[in-house]
Amino acid sequence: MSKSQPRSQPSPAGNLRGPHHARLDHSTDALALELTERVRSGVLAESTVTARLLGVLAAEVQAREASGDRFCPRASLVHLSNLRGHPDVTTPDLPELRGATCLDFGCGGLNPLGGVFGLLLAGAGRGLAIDLDDVASPLAAVRALSTLLGSALTGTTHPPVPGTASEILARVDTFDLRRLAAGDPGGIDDERLRHMQVDLRGAGIADGAIDVVVSNSVFEHLDDVDGVLDEMARIVRPGGLAVHAIDGFDHRYYGRPDEISPHAFLFESSDAPLLYGCNRIRPLAFAALFEQAGFEVRKLVEAHRTPLTDDEVARLDPAFRDMPRDHLEVTRARYYLRRR
Ligand SMILES: C[S@@+](CC[C@H](N)C(=O)[O-])C[C@H]1O[C@@H](n2cnc3c(N)ncnc32)[C@H](O)[C@@H]1O
Repeated sequence: MSKSQPRSQPSPAGNLRGPHHARLDHSTDALALELTERVRSGVLAESTVTARLLGVLAAEVQAREASGDRFCPRASLVHLSNLRGHPDVTTPDLPELRGATCLDFGCGGLNPLGGVFGLLLAGAGRGLAIDLDDVASPLAAVRALSTLLGSALTGTTHPPVPGTASEILARVDTFDLRRLAAGDPGGIDDERLRHMQVDLRGAGIADGAIDVVVSNSVFEHLDDVDGVLDEMARIVRPGGLAVHAIDGFDHRYYGRPDEISPHAFLFESSDAPLLYGCNRIRPLAFAALFEQAGFEVRKLVEAHRTPLTDDEVARLDPAFRDMPRDHLEVTRARYYLRRR
């Protein structure tokens, strides 16, 4: 913008005036809020001030993406990304999601709402996030929603949230975006987005109330997979969709990758339902469990394979020794299901 040009809009949130224009010292949330207000007032495409705002916001969003933390937009969009790969989702704008009631099973305590909020931004009607854990920081959890919204409006997310900025904003127009930006849970429309700290089996969800259920790294931690699957079969309507990503690594590997093999817990004998926090059901073995529970396996992606050495094969506990090597070597899988 040339110096002689009059400002067509009031100053954006944060200090974007004067010689500090290029500094990235504004909170992402304040920028996201400013952006949403400009989209709402219909000036987004016209304002060169907004172009600057977009640039700063995109840079901040990219910085968060690069940090890869649990609050970054990429982490919040893992379920949207997975759902786009579902064979029963017909087009990238996910018409099957429109108005749907979605459940994030085992949403975790760090960014518990981001996953379902991402689905709301893409057109879902309601989102329910359930976990045994409490929310570690309500302020951080709520601000993550504002950051995600800002990222979606600028088109800087991966995957992109379908729709124009105005359409995306309209999908969450019952939320108080100013309060979200401040990290205030009161900004959430709790008719549309709800968190429950509860065991799924005791959540009291009505029969067939869920259209779409998603989970990330949860099934390997269950001590009662059959009980959870029975409950899921009850609450997901016939024809409802599911995507579950399962991590079959010995999770001690993540703290000590140079010392612990992803297969290490398969060398031990144990009758306990969980060993080092995991049930040791191999990722490919879940196919039969989903089918028995009433979910058709529409697609199975072998997301990660960890070769077994001959020495490791020799050390396998008898419970795993008869399983085909090819089967055991699949250490992560993603299931795309449809309720029969
Ligand atoms: C490894 S964490 C994954 C968290 C999150 N999905 C993520 O990707 O970061 C597994 C979560 O599943 C939750 N969980 C396990 N069993 C559950 C149950 N029966 N009902 C609700 N949550 C459960 C745990 O409390 C835990 O937060």
